[in-house]
Amino acid sequence: MNFSIGSNDIVFVLTGAGISAESGISTFRDSGGLWEKYRIEDVASPEAFEKNPELVWKFYSTRRKELKRVLPNKAHTTLAEFQKKHKNTYIVTQNVDNLHERAGSVNIIHMHGTLMGIKCTSCGYYEENLEDIEGIKFCPKCKNIARPDVVWFGEIPYFLDTIYELLSKIKLFVGIGTSGLVYPAASFVSIAKRFNAKTVFINKERFFNDDIDLFIEGNASEMVEKFFNSIQII
Ligand code: APR
Repeated sequence: MNFSIGSNDIVFVLTGAGISAESGISTFRDSGGLWEKYRIEDVASPEAFEKNPELVWKFYSTRRKELKRVLPNKAHTTLAEFQKKHKNTYIVTQNVDNLHERAGSVNIIHMHGTLMGIKCTSCGYYEENLEDIEGIKFCPKCKNIARPDVVWFGEIPYFLDTIYELLSKIKLFVGIGTSGLVYPAASFVSIAKRFNAKTVFINKERFFNDDIDLFIEGNASEMVEKFFNSIQII
């Protein structure tokens, strides 16, 4: 593990549910993960919301409440510390939790939205909070139905222009705790490689992808610290 980067080089970190697992937030596809307990089609698509908004709101209200019980772990805090040393570090997260923010990170790009965000389906009203929501949330402005500001299956992730622009300029790509199964995030490592970045993955379970230069198998809380502390900034 010997990586060196120049002080102006851009570091791109892609995080997924695995980075928050040790904080106590369920992943999606591990055994016991959220998609074993719920069907994606019932709670995470525009069609599901159309069909049963109560169920969808219940799913997200439970997850919003969970955020008040969990804390960032060593992987989140290591990234925040690293950003103090190397400002040109961007965290592109698929996670809708707020653990990167709470660990003190900056330059966070929430490509799948956040649990904190609520938006009106009609007038564009938007608010951010973690108030408990019982039942369906309605827009305080126009009284139409509101929805969680989370990107569902079939919807286009946020900030893709910024993300692709960054990917074309980076020197180091680090994927952390993501199964690499959901697109477009799953393609980022290959795009980074095409632009000659060094590519690293830190994940509990190994998977194979020819575009990954270094795969570090293990828990994020331990391996993220080891890897980021080994980076030399020259
Ligand atoms: N440390 C590192 N990796 C871990 C840990 C851990 N402690 N625990 C689990 N993992 C790994 C798992 O081995 C798995 O490969 O994290 C990965 C989590 O994968 P998913 O559950 O598929 O989560 P993610 O990749 O973030 O999912 C992408 O899918 O359903 C959607 O919108 C949702 O943003 C999410 C997207």
